[in-house]
Amino acid sequence: MTQISALDVVLFGATGDLVMRKLLPAFYHLHQDGLLAPDVRIVGVARSGHSRDAYIAIAQDALQKFLDKDAYDAATWESFAARLDYRSLDSTKPETFQNLAELLSDTSRPRVYYLSTAPHLFTPTCRNLANAGLITPISRVILEKPLGVDLASNQAINDEVGRHFGEDQIFRIDHYLGKEPVQNLLALRFGNVLMEPLWRNQWVRDVQITVSEQLGVENRGAFYEETGAMRDMVQNHLLQLLCIVAMEPPSSLEPTAVRDEKLKVLRALVPIWGSDVMTKTVRGQYRSGAINGQAVKGYLEEKDVAPDSQTETFVAIKAEISSWRWAGVPFYLRVGKRMQEKLAEIVINFKPVPHCIFDSCEIGRPANSLVIQMQPDETVQLFMNAKQPGDTMTLDPVSLSLDFLETFKGRRLEAYERLLMDAMRGNLTLFVRRDEQEAAWRWVEPIMKGWAESGEKPKSYAAGTWGPTSSSALLSRGGHLWHEEM
Ligand code: BG6
Repeated sequence: MTQISALDVVLFGATGDLVMRKLLPAFYHLHQDGLLAPDVRIVGVARSGHSRDAYIAIAQDALQKFLDKDAYDAATWESFAARLDYRSLDSTKPETFQNLAELLSDTSRPRVYYLSTAPHLFTPTCRNLANAGLITPISRVILEKPLGVDLASNQAINDEVGRHFGEDQIFRIDHYLGKEPVQNLLALRFGNVLMEPLWRNQWVRDVQITVSEQLGVENRGAFYEETGAMRDMVQNHLLQLLCIVAMEPPSSLEPTAVRDEKLKVLRALVPIWGSDVMTKTVRGQYRSGAINGQAVKGYLEEKDVAPDSQTETFVAIKAEISSWRWAGVPFYLRVGKRMQEKLAEIVINFKPVPHCIFDSCEIGRPANSLVIQMQPDETVQLFMNAKQPGDTMTLDPVSLSLDFLETFKGRRLEAYERLLMDAMRGNLTLFVRRDEQEAAWRWVEPIMKGWAESGEKPKSYAAGTWGPTSSSALLSRGGHLWHEEM
């Protein structure tokens, strides 16, 4: 990978959780790997009136806490600290931007502004950057989610940011696209000829995309109350995964080629509204239960959560795509907190053989399944039917397995490291374009509206399970089972 040089990164929200937990560790690793030339500067900005030394001490604490034990070493830290700086600035006060302007006087150096703040600060931040003359044609801005809570607020943010930055300068992060296994899905689909002829409704029976977490809402109760699983995970991560699974082969890996194809998928999603909302979606909320044998409380008992909250912590959806390739194939999406396992997985179930000549073809069972696991392991398994040894022709599914961590040893870039490198290089392929984001909001909004209008509460599920029973019923109505139920 080529080294980045002569560039300034400015982290807004520099004392916040994301910077401490993810961004500083990511930059530290890139530094350790020699991917940042000594002249790359990282400038934290936030309201607190810290001195540079005080911020460096905060950053050091964070790295010692959040880096893997063997990643932190004193010599690397010393050289990393040399590129850190800090400026106190209030995004809503134009006069405080002078602090930053003094530091960023060399206009030949690209600036990458990372807005890791509450979204209501995006607008004043961009406006004040522009007024202070800090947005040059080679500047870029990285926007963290959530970008709004619905289509209208998303458009308002994008309009305002778009007044100051061109679309090719705006990097909207979806950290799932930075994950190695997600990019591997592109390699699997478009770097092999085996998949393509089978990757369509003629052979695929159903697709399942699951992202389940064992964690609850942790200390983010207030944020989660406003957000819920639909806005937090489905509108972005799940739909992006669906796009990568379902899109047509792009003509290249150029940003426009890839993003155009993803957009076509989002626009082809069959709208779910009216009475379909209750038959094609399930929303759930965890109650108390046990995770790995430890008792955990329910969502309604979490800090900063209303005792009668109807916020969903689980969503399952039967999505459909109206295209020649995918008509008739259900894409089951499922996401949840406090679930039985931490798992991110895509399962492609192929149709049963058209005519069975063996004794043991189970009616309805897929003949083959391709299981792409992204978390906790990074594996691809292709389940095939094979004959059991013995004097009968009895078939059993066996798997051909590929373990990426075993096959490709050595350090790999974490999602944020990859995405930061791409933003610093100016490569937009793994970032979300405005029209994609809007199409995703257009699809999820009527579902959320349908839930609100139904007056029904989210279905309760015990922490440590696979979600409400109606999630299994959603699939069984189509004659299908979730992967772990097969
Ligand atoms: C974030 C959500 O975008 O993704 C969190 O806001 C969620 O609620 C997280 O926990 C999951 O990401 P990962 O990489 O741990 O699967």
